[in-house]
Amino acid sequence: MDRIAITGGARLNGEIPISGAKNSAIKLMAASLLTEEPLRLTNMPRLADTRFLGKLLQRLGTEVVEAEGEDGPETLLRTKEIVSGFAPYDLVRQMRASFNVLGPLLARTGQAKVSLPGGCTIGARPVDLHLKALEALGARIDLHEGYVYAQAPGGLTGGRIDFPFNSVGATEHAMLAAVLARGETVMTNAACEPELVDLADCLNKMGAHVTGAGTSVIRIQGVGQLHGAVHAVMPDRIETGTYAVAAAMAGGEVRLTRTRSDFIQALLDKMVEAGVEVTPHNDGLTVRRNGALLKAVEVETGVYPGFATDLQAQFMALMTLADGESVIKETIFENRFMHAPELSRLGADIAVQGGEARIRGVQALEGAQVMATDLRASVSLVIAGLAARGETVVHRVYHLDRGFERLEQKLSDCGAQIRRLKGDIEGEED
Ligand code: UD1
Repeated sequence: MDRIAITGGARLNGEIPISGAKNSAIKLMAASLLTEEPLRLTNMPRLADTRFLGKLLQRLGTEVVEAEGEDGPETLLRTKEIVSGFAPYDLVRQMRASFNVLGPLLARTGQAKVSLPGGCTIGARPVDLHLKALEALGARIDLHEGYVYAQAPGGLTGGRIDFPFNSVGATEHAMLAAVLARGETVMTNAACEPELVDLADCLNKMGAHVTGAGTSVIRIQGVGQLHGAVHAVMPDRIETGTYAVAAAMAGGEVRLTRTRSDFIQALLDKMVEAGVEVTPHNDGLTVRRNGALLKAVEVETGVYPGFATDLQAQFMALMTLADGESVIKETIFENRFMHAPELSRLGADIAVQGGEARIRGVQALEGAQVMATDLRASVSLVIAGLAARGETVVHRVYHLDRGFERLEQKLSDCGAQIRRLKGDIEGEED
């Protein structure tokens, strides 16, 4: 299993181009199941998660072709025919969002058998809201032996979906199904994340009638069929925020390009409060810190446009070196502080109680061996390693490969001392 080694202390200076958003790309790829015509996705990130989903889609009947386009990586997806409505445990387990093929399969063919994804390290992560939404569209759902059996022999019908709380995945899933349902679907208390707007834009290019995406009420007029389209995946706001924090942690000046600063305004406000210089520009933003001590600030994660839970671990790494005590409250996932004990191995002073972490800033971190536990947690360890004295080795970097494209390359281009160590370590458990 690969590891990443970082020798801390180098400042970051330069430019980092931001890739297409993983969390958007994987839902857009699932949308290709809804039409027999080709869907061409540009600005595609090349990640383990997009590869997993590509494999699953190929099993279901999608032709998946990766190419290098004029403006970077593209993926052409074409599902002339659904050859199987079966998504096995092995593939869904590897990447939870694979579960989102259920809605499109059901909408296009009237049936599907998709594995339940199970829990993960950041919490139980149920899919009850996804299933209730599909039931509201007339699907019959049965659960047996870890699988969802879904049927809508006469096709899906539009309906009213009142979400009890915001769920990004369930809102997207319902959208992916309702576009081909008969009649109107109205969703209330819908999630407002930018990836949902990206999905709605792409579906509308494919001939769907979705309005209100990005607000809490989404209306969809179902259509008989969708057609092909070309769509550019939105920039990855979590990757943007991650490198913004990395630059603040290491010090120096980094320009983040091909992205948008407004997607991470809540993070940037906190960074400015902590004493980091942030300058937005047309194509992204510049982050600058010239050795001044950081100030401890309080953060509470929330749904968009609040502070993204996917940036919480990175911000915690930053706060380990701040002056004073910061409090970070996690309100989205129940168990999302797995990075705290690993940061403590680097010398951080963190006390976790329930959904709250108290971080008392220390003078310096010291390199150590640490273990990645999930995608965002693992990158927080890399960020901490950038500022730690000596060498930090992050184990289980397959988590990082799921969501960060060319991470070592992007950071080393700005002067970070970071390299990948290939291969196994004897005795390491998976
Ligand atoms: C998505 C993102 C993830 C991000 C999260 C919150 C993808 C692939 N992942 O995850 O990176 O951290 O949004 O912004 O886009 N819940 C239920 N029942 C359900 C569905 C969700 O109880 O049926 C709960 C979850 O356990 C969680 C909360 O709702 O506590 C929010 O989850 P949700 O917004 O659905 O997150 P994901 O779509 O899984």
